Amino acid sequence: MAEPQAAESALQAAPGAARILFVGDIVGGIGRETLLDCLPILRERHDPTFVVVNGENAAGGLGITPKNADQLFAAGVDAITLGNHTYHRREIYPYLDSNERIVRPANFLRSQPGHGTTVVEKGGLRLGVVNISGNLYLRAGRSAFTEIEVALGELRDVDHVLVDVHAEATSEKVAMGWHLDGRVTAVVGTHTHVPTADGRVLPGGTAYITDVGMTGPRGGVIGVKREQAIESLLTQMPVRFETSQEDPWLMGVLISCSTRLRADSIEQLLMPRPS
Ligand SMILES: [Fe+2]
Ligand SMILES: [Fe+2]
Repeated sequence: MAEPQAAESALQAAPGAARILFVGDIVGGIGRETLLDCLPILRERHDPTFVVVNGENAAGGLGITPKNADQLFAAGVDAITLGNHTYHRREIYPYLDSNERIVRPANFLRSQPGHGTTVVEKGGLRLGVVNISGNLYLRAGRSAFTEIEVALGELRDVDHVLVDVHAEATSEKVAMGWHLDGRVTAVVGTHTHVPTADGRVLPGGTAYITDVGMTGPRGGVIGVKREQAIESLLTQMPVRFETSQEDPWLMGVLISCSTRLRADSIEQLLMPRPS
């Protein structure tokens, strides 16, 4: 048993050694409760240095309120990323400007509330977090592929960089992974709420996954009660959507690193809410 412990200490001692837990789109109260229930278990199991979550669906499935964000930060979340539902709740607008640790896509218009990058510090390590939106089927005022350069340029003296690419099209996310390979620690995809099976470290040392999935009810249709989603598709008429409460899971990834701006591994974490 002595050898693994020795290896573990060597990892901790290496410059840039870190573990980043990233959790996919938290959907509604059920998603927040699932995170709160799973996080202590994941902390004990994996001892993450940083915890970053996507919170764009935290408020009843659409958007996020200051109260929701405060709840996530109080649970020990270091940074929150968002996406196309960023502005669904008006009360979050001033919070997006005043709170450094919550980011909306960097390629939204400059005139829109909030900012697209942040740096969080833990145990002497600095993690840069960037949120960027795809341009296919999503409303983002500027190009993801030009604005990512500006966003990365805003990060100063960072040990690691995590990019949440919030996009519908797998092609945009795969392309962003290759585009940033060797320049950032991890590129993780969000938005579709369905985890993909392609997590890997790219040749340049960047951890990549096309979609992390969601933290919410698997019993619905990407978070919505399934009978309502099916009725909408069947009738082609407007239907009021509510968040499903059935079969909640946490979906995330753990990125392990021993060198600055490089990942050693990316592990998918798919976990039912403990009963
Ligand atoms: Fe989402
Ligand atoms: Fe989204």
